[in-house]
Amino acid sequence: MTALTLKNIAWSPLGHGHCHHQFQLRDVDLQVAAGEFVGLIGPNGSGKTSLLRCAYRFAKPATGEVLLDQANVWQQPPRWCAQRIAVVLQEFPDAFGLTVDEVVAMGRTPHKGMFDGDTLHDRQLARDALAGVGMQGFEDHAFATLSGGEKQRVILARALTQQPELLILDEPTNHLDPRYQLELLQWVKRLKIGTLASIHDLNLAAAFCDRLYVINHGRIVASGTPAEVLTVELLRDVFGVEALVDAHPLSGYPRITWITHP
Ligand SMILES: Nc1ncnc2c1ncn2[C@@H]1O[C@H](COP(=O)(O)OP(=O)(O)O)[C@@H](O)[C@H]1O
Ligand SMILES: [Mg+2]
Repeated sequence: MTALTLKNIAWSPLGHGHCHHQFQLRDVDLQVAAGEFVGLIGPNGSGKTSLLRCAYRFAKPATGEVLLDQANVWQQPPRWCAQRIAVVLQEFPDAFGLTVDEVVAMGRTPHKGMFDGDTLHDRQLARDALAGVGMQGFEDHAFATLSGGEKQRVILARALTQQPELLILDEPTNHLDPRYQLELLQWVKRLKIGTLASIHDLNLAAAFCDRLYVINHGRIVASGTPAEVLTVELLRDVFGVEALVDAHPLSGYPRITWITHP
């Protein structure tokens, strides 16, 4: 079963003229199978965030289709998507004054009527999600007082309470130290929810992703397993860096070591 399909997507930012240098997404074809963890890698400004915005029905493609379980997301109301897609963005939401508990509870909003209170089930989901990300005991803390890494874990907990069919993560490990980078990706992987995540750290992408898509200048330039994609040539062509690529001695995943000349 396919969780997400992007078919021949084109998109460009509106209101910025149409000069030839303008950024656009073009000819983007991408799939995430149910339960699959798919990584999106590419240099700064290559279009990762823009592509993810198309996938979660925020940016409307000029051409092409975004399908969730065969349904065109633009033929469904926003709430339909909110019930099925959870998003963890690079910027934290403006949760001024909200407690951790309240932020996590917001994950249930798409599933409830306007005046419904929290059910026992809602509260249990929130508790489990906070425990799952190692943030139990923080329920009453003000979200604004948390560290970047703690905020990131709370936002992931909120996404989990949403019980989505598809999880979209924009550089989810950026605020985290090595231990929490690894833990967050392990949590996400164990969920077995279809996941599309932009990931900056190529070694993390190699270790956790079932498949990778590489984007450069708004186009998908390579896709496949990490071992198929992460080659010396691709790293040189797309990222403009020289690297050694070998197999990690313990895991066998591709291991990238940058060649530096200090
Ligand atoms: N809403 C927008 N208005 C103007 N330019 C945008 C907009 N969204 C993205 N861009 C431009 O599109 C390019 C790709 O951006 P982005 O998708 O954020 O790349 P990435 O996430 O890979 O760093 C950048 O040059 C960025 O400035
Ligand atoms: Mg981005």
